[in-house]
Amino acid sequence: MRVFLTGASGWIGSAVVPELVEAGHDVTGLARSDRAAAALTAAGVRVLPGSLDDLDTLRTVAGAVDGVIHLAFKHDIAFSGDFEGAAQSDRRAVEALGEVLAGSDRPLVIASGTLGLAPGRVATEQDGHDPDPAVGPGGAGPSAPCPRRRGTSGEAGPPTTECRGTPARA
Ligand SMILES: NC(=O)c1ccc[n+]([C@@H]2O[C@H](COP(=O)([O-])OP(=O)(O)OC[C@H]3O[C@@H](n4cnc5c(N)ncnc54)[C@H](OP(=O)(O)O)[C@@H]3O)[C@@H](O)[C@H]2O)c1
Repeated sequence: MRVFLTGASGWIGSAVVPELVEAGHDVTGLARSDRAAAALTAAGVRVLPGSLDDLDTLRTVAGAVDGVIHLAFKHDIAFSGDFEGAAQSDRRAVEALGEVLAGSDRPLVIASGTLGLAPGRVATEQDGHDPDPAVGPGGAGPSAPCPRRRGTSGEAGPPTTECRGTPARA
């Protein structure tokens, strides 16, 4: 498969990339810096220079591949006080990718956090945050089974799978 990744140089991306390459997939990764581009090249990934904000670039490449894995997130600005800005950027990227993949059988895979989702059942995009304190901080969240969210990015959106992991960075 031709697979496009955002965030291929990140923590999750650097684990996903070797598996894709070893499985024989044709992998292209978005890189916003020379450092990231060099890491991707060394890992056997075709480099697409650009930023998460280059929505036309995201749309173009999404139209040319068999599936997209979206792992980029602006943790730099999120952790320096602008989480809302990072989240809005993420939303715009997901919407840009989703609008191209909509109506196709080409998947869009994303990763996010588990807190706020009800454990023990398949979640959908219609779910909001679960007010149950059992899944919030100090509750059952971190030890709960990984809920898998399946859905579409809108009524005619692409097949979307989101495996939500709890933060585990050492
Ligand atoms: N790790 C976890 O335990 C965990 C838990 C819950 C949810 N998640 C979610 O999973 C996703 C990936 O997490 P991660 O831990 O792999 O994150 P990460 O290590 O911070 O990697 C983020 C990736 O996004 C790229 N990126 C950041 N800003 C960008 C921009 N403006 N343009 C293009 N690329 C940009 C980074 O590129 P550079 O290499 O250039 O910095 C890097 O490749 C995120 O949505 C995160 O919220 C992760």
